Amino acid sequence: MALFSCCKFQARSCFMLLLCLTFTVSVTYYIQLPNDWISSVSDNIYSYYRNLTVHSPPRPRHMQTTDQRTTADSTPAVMSVTSRANTKATEDLMSTVAPTPYNAAYPQNYHFILDEPDKCKQENPFLVLMVPVAPHELEARNAIRSTWGNETVVQGKTVTVLFLVGLPGIKTEKQQEELNLESQKYHDLIQSDFMDTYLNLTIKTMVIMDWLATRCPQAAYSMKVDSDMFLNLDNMMNLLLAPETPRINYITGMVMWNRPVIRDPASKWYVPQELYPEDYYPTYLLGMGYIFSNDLPKKLVEVSKDIQPFNIEDAYVGTCLKKLGIAPSTPPNPSQFKAYFNGNYQREEFQRVITTILSSPQQLIKFWQDSRRPT
Ligand SMILES: *[C@@H]1O[C@H](CO)[C@@H](O)[C@H](O)[C@H]1NC(C)=O
Ligand SMILES: *[C@@H]1O[C@H](CO)[C@@H](O)[C@H](O)[C@H]1NC(C)=O
Ligand SMILES: *[C@@H]1O[C@H](CO)[C@@H](O)[C@H](O)[C@H]1NC(C)=O
Repeated sequence: MALFSCCKFQARSCFMLLLCLTFTVSVTYYIQLPNDWISSVSDNIYSYYRNLTVHSPPRPRHMQTTDQRTTADSTPAVMSVTSRANTKATEDLMSTVAPTPYNAAYPQNYHFILDEPDKCKQENPFLVLMVPVAPHELEARNAIRSTWGNETVVQGKTVTVLFLVGLPGIKTEKQQEELNLESQKYHDLIQSDFMDTYLNLTIKTMVIMDWLATRCPQAAYSMKVDSDMFLNLDNMMNLLLAPETPRINYITGMVMWNRPVIRDPASKWYVPQELYPEDYYPTYLLGMGYIFSNDLPKKLVEVSKDIQPFNIEDAYVGTCLKKLGIAPSTPPNPSQFKAYFNGNYQREEFQRVITTILSSPQQLIKFWQDSRRPT
């Protein structure tokens, strides 16, 4: 308004009017710019993250949270793009939701085989870290146990770490025996009776929500965090203890806006129209690690009864949130949630972030120890 009245007042000559118009147009364009710029940066990060998950050695990142052999057998990513593969992939995905479409991810259909029902009564945690991990990934669990998983009190607040596994798909009996022993030793394993496969990650996430809702309602906050993540719990606690951080209906992490649903059957993220008809996902938080107020698990489990499951766990949680009318929050400092690690370790960077994706348990141990070294 001020701008226009200024133009009107000064526009005695045609020249001045033109000048003013040019100025106004430039300002308008300039104001538009940051939005485009932000979305292009977010696109780039997403594409980087996707490249990383598809191409990073030794195996795709997402596979790390699943049983490798079973995954390879059932993942559309390994199939060639023929109509047969397409049908097969769709069938596999549909089998994830069979027999009743809206029921398969509903966590109360599954049962805990290994459980720590009194853990939260005993420890009364402020924050619970729930780590989905494949049964055979003992090394990843041990790396966490010896790094951020060993921080039981942070800024005077109790933190509890638990691992969530499904049923082992290979060497079933031997792996189950090992899991039982590991559970007796550490008392930090939760196991549910669904097949631990890549396509079942949505079930895994919802089982995590069910566990939090039924076994740990007293905690203030929780986080779903992948097993290949670096976590800086001090920085996370600063965020959670900040007076402006909401206590309810709060969820934050790396926010994904306007992500298109992948319809290419050769993609790891393929979702058939039958499972998710819309072209875009609602705003969601990238699955590597999202933090939420602990009132949400119960609400998510409830609402999931009415929402058809599909195989992209983080987007599924986003769909549930939308139905609940809860908007994901952008963290105060979004750059603290890093979906990639460029291989160039910088101590200051690891002291600054909340999460960073790493590529091996050895890396986690190395960087964590170094980042904690007194200056
Ligand atoms: C991701 O990979 C594609 C294809 O290989 C490439 O065109 C694109 O630039 C990559 N993106 C980033 C951010 O590295
Ligand atoms: C956890 O930390 C304690 C002391 O801070 C240490 O004695 C213990 O060995 C650590 N546990 C693991 C698994 O590294
Ligand atoms: C997911 O788990 C269920 C329950 O164990 C199983 O019946 C189904 O085959 C699994 N789906 C996939 C695609 O692995």
